[in-house]
Amino acid sequence: MEKKFKRTLVTCALPYANGPVHIGHLAGVYVPADIYVRYLRMRGREVLYVCGSDEHGVPITIKARQQGCTPQDIVDKYHNIIADSFKGFGINFDIYGRTSSETHTKNASEFFKKLYDEGKFISKESEQYYDPEAKTFLADRYIVGTCPKCGAEGAYGDQCEKCGSTLSPEELINPKSKLSGAEPVKKKTTHWYLPLDKDEQWIREWILDGHKEWRSNVYGQVKSWLDGGLQPRAVTRDLDWGVPVPVEGAEGKVLYVWFDAPIGYISNTRELLPDDWEKWWKSEDTRLVHFIGKDNIVFHCIVFPAMLKAYGDGYILPDNVPANEFLNLEGDKISTSRGWAVWAHEYLKDFPGKQDVLRYVLTANAPETKDNDFSWKDFQQRNNSELVAIFGNFVNRAIVLTHKYFGGKVPSAGQMLDIDKETLWQVPALKESMEKNIENFKFREALKDAMSIARLGNKYISDTEPWKVAKTDMDRCATILNVSLQICADLAIAFEPFTPFAAQRLRKMLGSPLDWEILGRPTILPVGHVLAEPELLFAKVEDAEIDVQLERLAKIRAEREAAAAAEAARQVAPQKEECSFEDFEKMDIRTATVLEAERVPKTDKLLKLTIDTGIDRRVIVSGIAEYYSPEEMVGKQICILANLKPRVIKGIESKGMILMAKQGDGKMRFVTPQEPLTNGSQIG
Ligand code: MF3
Ligand code: ZN
Repeated sequence: MEKKFKRTLVTCALPYANGPVHIGHLAGVYVPADIYVRYLRMRGREVLYVCGSDEHGVPITIKARQQGCTPQDIVDKYHNIIADSFKGFGINFDIYGRTSSETHTKNASEFFKKLYDEGKFISKESEQYYDPEAKTFLADRYIVGTCPKCGAEGAYGDQCEKCGSTLSPEELINPKSKLSGAEPVKKKTTHWYLPLDKDEQWIREWILDGHKEWRSNVYGQVKSWLDGGLQPRAVTRDLDWGVPVPVEGAEGKVLYVWFDAPIGYISNTRELLPDDWEKWWKSEDTRLVHFIGKDNIVFHCIVFPAMLKAYGDGYILPDNVPANEFLNLEGDKISTSRGWAVWAHEYLKDFPGKQDVLRYVLTANAPETKDNDFSWKDFQQRNNSELVAIFGNFVNRAIVLTHKYFGGKVPSAGQMLDIDKETLWQVPALKESMEKNIENFKFREALKDAMSIARLGNKYISDTEPWKVAKTDMDRCATILNVSLQICADLAIAFEPFTPFAAQRLRKMLGSPLDWEILGRPTILPVGHVLAEPELLFAKVEDAEIDVQLERLAKIRAEREAAAAAEAARQVAPQKEECSFEDFEKMDIRTATVLEAERVPKTDKLLKLTIDTGIDRRVIVSGIAEYYSPEEMVGKQICILANLKPRVIKGIESKGMILMAKQGDGKMRFVTPQEPLTNGSQIG
């Protein structure tokens, strides 16, 4: 597979410039892509690494409206924050462009225009919601109403965030425009569609027959889209933020963000290499790999390939689309709008110099085959007991002892014992396994292989105890340290893709080269080679550091729970079916006073109340123990339904029912006359 390609074009999903990137983005897309690219580069392969901000789309216009600024202000702000975050984590794209650039506007327009001129689109008129006050068509996200599935208020035209249902604006009950609050009206509009139904056959052959090696989550999603039948997809929208539709009579229309954004990969390549971009996009020698999250699969495996195929002119299709599943945070779905996230730029501030730790943890825990969870405890644990205690500890011992006994010069290896040979022999096998894993996008496994080299070294130095041997046999001590230092040099190569900052510091300490080919050779560091002063590779993460993070999250969780409770309390049940006055009159409702109250044994919810109804003295069993203690009830005047047919509850005959008012969140209170009245007063 590898052999037939001369170069690799790696793209990362263009993040929306409507917020900063968080650990979910890093784990899903950017850290794995960066591992892959660093690995290929280290092996001397020709690679181009392309990303940029996705600066169109409705979420950006909504954010601008909320903050009272222009969409351009929003994308300028977040483009810079995101670009800096990537740099901070050592994710160095060859270009980090933006879809609001002139190059992109021209390129995307030209792309659309060619397809349009060649009749590759169909146009259709349909009725869409229009805001008569704001005089604009409303994107799905601009329409809110009551969810038809769960009854929650504030559901969007495309989704109810309460119950997660996918909706269409037509389904919303009581739809309102988010812009003006007006009731939207239906209005005719014309849009262009990509007739994907015609692409089913070749996509089936290309992916389902031709790319069985793709990850099963990706392959499976593609298959289910194809099996469900592809529908024409609109590629234009009635909006004022985006790339204008470059044809006459299309005023007020822009390219749909999912049409223009993937073209952004091409635009950004053109921006970087105006004269040389075509070899990256139009040569069969190029291997195109898209790193994305699972929510982007259909766009990268079906829609964008269909666009490229329709355009023709030699555009290549992706050779692989390694999509990750989602990362959760402390057991809950990451949510930008709810603030439930660890932001990349904040992490960089809170944990200066610890970029590698997050890269490491996100890789060790990568959601490659299923959703996974990030927790701060796990973060601390992996740092302290893996990076610090194994990798860092081993390297530190080897280098410090070399300085102590041999003036910092690599000592010569004398006679090799079995333990030396057996240790060194294991490295090439781990290297080979790493190669296989990285080339198959199995980065978790590859990291385990790299970590196995560190474990090997750490075990070797613990077992051979050079600090003890030094007292009796300096030659043997020299051999042990030589072997240990060679393994350190292996680690400085093996960890380059995963923890590039530490790997580079280690290479500086060792004065060792970055060259994949020499990994595993027992003579990377020549005898007499001088090491630099040792410095700690990794520092411990203290409880106090993660407590700050946990407290921040606990606060967000508490606020969210309080808001949810308040919201539930506000919910009012819909009115019941009509009833007649006669129906009502049948009920004999009266005032009564509680004389005695006690818990019904072996139940949590029931109280046995003895009451004076004015008519008689009777017993009612009521499910109010959750809300009132027996003591609270004694002496209280209540209202009862007196003529309810008696029922035996837990062996006690209950004659009647207490009237209770129940709030949306389940809270209940008994009903009482506004002033005490004679027991037995009739209510009606
Ligand atoms: N902005 C999209 C997202 O974050 C990804 C766009 S990827 C591209 O989900 F293909 F459109 F570039
Ligand atoms: Zn709902």
